[in-house]
Amino acid sequence: MYTNRFSRVGFILAAAGSAVGLGNIWKFPYITGENGGGVFVFVYLLTVILIGLSIFIAEVLVGSSTNQDSVTSFETLSPKGKKYWKYSGFTFLTGIIILSFYSIVVGWILNYVVIALTNLPQNSAEAESVFMTMLKDDIFTQLFYYTLAFLIIAYTISKGVKKGIEKLNNYLMPTLIMILIIMFFYSMSLSGFTKALEFMFYPNIEKFHASSIIIAVGHAFFTLSIGMATILSYSASLDRNINIVKASITIVSLDTLIAIVAGIIIFSVVFTAGQEPSQGPGLVFVTLPAIFYEMGIIGNIMAIAFFVALAFAAITSAISVLEPTVMYLVERKKISRKKATYGISFIFYILGIFALLSNTNSFSEILTFGTKNLFDWFDFITAAILMPLGGILLAVFVGYVMDKQQIRNKLVPLMGEKFFKLWLILIRYVAPISVFFIMLNETGLLKL
Ligand code: PFF
Repeated sequence: MYTNRFSRVGFILAAAGSAVGLGNIWKFPYITGENGGGVFVFVYLLTVILIGLSIFIAEVLVGSSTNQDSVTSFETLSPKGKKYWKYSGFTFLTGIIILSFYSIVVGWILNYVVIALTNLPQNSAEAESVFMTMLKDDIFTQLFYYTLAFLIIAYTISKGVKKGIEKLNNYLMPTLIMILIIMFFYSMSLSGFTKALEFMFYPNIEKFHASSIIIAVGHAFFTLSIGMATILSYSASLDRNINIVKASITIVSLDTLIAIVAGIIIFSVVFTAGQEPSQGPGLVFVTLPAIFYEMGIIGNIMAIAFFVALAFAAITSAISVLEPTVMYLVERKKISRKKATYGISFIFYILGIFALLSNTNSFSEILTFGTKNLFDWFDFITAAILMPLGGILLAVFVGYVMDKQQIRNKLVPLMGEKFFKLWLILIRYVAPISVFFIMLNETGLLKL
């Protein structure tokens, strides 16, 4: 039994810390930009409410029903003769693969905190060159910050749920939220603010395609950290007396709100500078730093605040993908937390180094396989195959395999009969089918 438990607030902050990450502040704004703004935001909200929230509740339900690691959770909850469902618990491997490339980006952000503090690039050409030099040539700098990122992550996890994860989130999450609130209020004074609102909430059908729907569903998964035993494991370390439906709604709403607020802040800055919103992944690392520079001292302060917020968001997400594997090793294999954490971190740290090198000029050739380098392969395998697979397994398990009466007893008092029925339909049909389509689309088997 897991003795090291989250408090109620601690759980909400930690799970929100896992959900709010690069996905919200870096990715959501640029995919919104690329997919036409308003319509995309609308479809995304619909997906989060219908698919994201229902799987999130299912995952919290599984974890909190057993208070065990993910493998044991699936094993305990499967009926006799179906104990092979325990293998679904191994979806924590998805998270740990994510960790090895996510930490590389955490490293870039730590580097950008220093750049914001020391000298911002003075125009977009310079900003592009600063980013590309770091990415392609400067192996030492990248390795340095990547190692720092891994050390912070591993150290926190080694301290356990209460003294490590909860404590870190208790500091970083409120600070992150404060920074975003202040930046949001400042962005209201910018001339691009109304245009940003218009862009985010006014439907622009032109750039919206069928594939945008797939992107929205895929992003809902990534941003809510579902389908890879992360939320499950956090929920397993939860105090018994908490309303899991209310907690799930709070976490999902917070995640969505932060993505939208980050989008409004970023687009206000971009529109104020007279630029276009659809700049792809370079938005945060290239476009913004140059605009911040042009804004003078206020811009400089904004740059520091922005990258610190991004670093906090990313670190709290990164630690959450390590926890499920460590929890499994501690609970099932009886390895000490310290040994499990540093052992597993070291293996994936080394793996990540190859991914890091695969982006550089010197090593890209030997570390590119087919159409993608190692970094992109990790991203592709987790986002297109493993994460959706984890989501489908979870939805099928909760929808068809787990004892329905047990689920009903737990959820009906919390959400009422009507919502329970709706949730069951979403979990049995809507979620698995739509996630299956993402998999087909992203793996190229079906092209929308
Ligand atoms: N939800 C995080 C984000 O939006 O950046 C990323 C993430 C964290 C994905 C934890 C998966 C995970 F298990």
